[in-house]
Amino acid sequence: MHAFTRTPPSANCSGGGRSTFVCHAGTMERRRGDSYLGKDFSEPPGLPEDVHVAKKIECVDCHQSVGGMGHIERKATCQDCHIEVEEAMAKSVHKNLACEACHVKILGGYEMTSWGPGMIESKPNPFKKYSLYYGPQEPPILIKDQTGRWMPVKIWPNTAGGIKETVMPKPGLIFRWPKGETHDAYAQLGTFNFPGGNNNYLAWLQVEQVAHPLGKSRTCGSCHDSPTQVARATWHYFDNQGAEPFDGSQKVVADKNGLHVKDIMATSKIVPMPEAKTEYFAAWLRLGDIWKTSGDFSIPKSDPAKYRSLEADIRKVLAQLDIIDKKLKTSEARGEDVKKLRRRWKEARAAAMHEPGSALRLFDELR
Ligand code: HEC
Ligand code: HEC
Ligand code: HEC
Ligand code: HEC
Repeated sequence: MHAFTRTPPSANCSGGGRSTFVCHAGTMERRRGDSYLGKDFSEPPGLPEDVHVAKKIECVDCHQSVGGMGHIERKATCQDCHIEVEEAMAKSVHKNLACEACHVKILGGYEMTSWGPGMIESKPNPFKKYSLYYGPQEPPILIKDQTGRWMPVKIWPNTAGGIKETVMPKPGLIFRWPKGETHDAYAQLGTFNFPGGNNNYLAWLQVEQVAHPLGKSRTCGSCHDSPTQVARATWHYFDNQGAEPFDGSQKVVADKNGLHVKDIMATSKIVPMPEAKTEYFAAWLRLGDIWKTSGDFSIPKSDPAKYRSLEADIRKVLAQLDIIDKKLKTSEARGEDVKKLRRRWKEARAAAMHEPGSALRLFDELR
């Protein structure tokens, strides 16, 4: 079985051990803690790092640690450092959006997973996981979590071949933890088969909450220009089994008719290794256009008048803050102590970007 394997580049072997604050090493956290660190730690390497990394802010500054051993809560809080933004957000039209919905713009990690025959620990196994289809997906699709709050997710196709039973599809999404311990979901698409295939193929869409890397916000239009959301994924297959490395891409479309991963294609030639068949590592190539589930996944259309007035109010308040900035700069240049006012100004500006009305309350003190 030697021709089956190929040594992967060492940088791809492990997410762990390269940092003192990757709490859980391994493939899962490549999308998670690794997505916080970005750069060399992301899959693929080179994705942006979270804005907080440069500020030396660590996992536990946002995630409370529970029970030592480096375990952290999934929940995170921003109020220790951005209380003015949380207060402004609570009054805004976006109070029902997670911070990450606007502040995460690109995702990495798996874009495809196919379980099929291969070698595990040098022994033949019918369920090897071929998941090293890594690439960026952007922008994140937004869905509502169990409580109706909008959050960004990463969506990708999964299949397991060699299944004997028949599984029926289920409509919509299923949350793995209905009570909310996690916000991860999946769509059960059912079983499929094709001539010459390996029994039935169970197919599902993985729909996972994402929260890093935080950075500058998306533009208003990236969410509101169309009720249909479209994410584009490109990937590079580089498992040491199955095939020589190849590239591909797909689109995730979320609209009022459902969620649909479409136009999945290889964009370079696939050269299987001698013992492998395409359906082992790429069953998706044989299954066709099956990757869809029902439901309304569109962004609600906002009232155009409300939309324009919110944009205009933000501009107006930021212009006023510019004038105050000039005055503060003059004072600062004269060596006057305006530190407290400068702090208030920063808070007012951060609040203004989220809810202009709440910034106005901070003005009196500044003028
Ligand atoms: C600036 C704040 C912040 C820092 C620092 C941070 N996170 Fe997060 N993280 C979040 C937020 C916000 C969520 C979403 C929480 C929720 O569901 O309420 C999250 C969610 C997660 C999740 C679950 C969702 C996902 O994206 O998979 C994991 C795992 C996670 N963080 C790991 C880490 C690790 C490991 C680190 C350190 C390397 C880290 N985080 C650092 C803010 C942060
Ligand atoms: C321990 C303090 C701390 C915590 C906790 C924290 N932040 Fe920050 N955050 C910062 C600092 C410091 C900056 C950089 C501000 C600057 O450069 O003036 C920052 C910057 C940001 C930015 C700026 C992005 C831009 O426009 O460049 C965003 C967005 C952000 N934080 C979101 C969050 C979210 C969401 C959470 C909670 C999940 C969070 N932060 C938790 C300290 C924190
Ligand atoms: C509807 C989209 C949206 C949501 C939701 C959102 N923000 Fe922002 N945020 C923005 C925009 C737009 C800006 C200004 C551009 C930028 O710096 O990213 C901004 C800027 C920031 C900044 C930088 C402020 C500065 O002074 O430069 C911080 C910090 C921040 N946001 C934190 C948060 C936190 C914390 C939450 C959740 C409580 C949140 N944001 C939710 C859109 C959003
Ligand atoms: C990350 C996606 C996203 C971004 C960026 C975003 N919005 Fe929204 N916006 C939403 C969602 C989702 C809702 C619906 C909220 C709900 O269901 O509670 C919404 C609601 C609204 C509403 C209220 C809808 C109504 O008519 O009652 C207005 C107005 C609005 N957004 C304007 C803006 C403006 C202006 C910006 C830029 C400053 C912006 N949005 C940025 C996703 C976004």
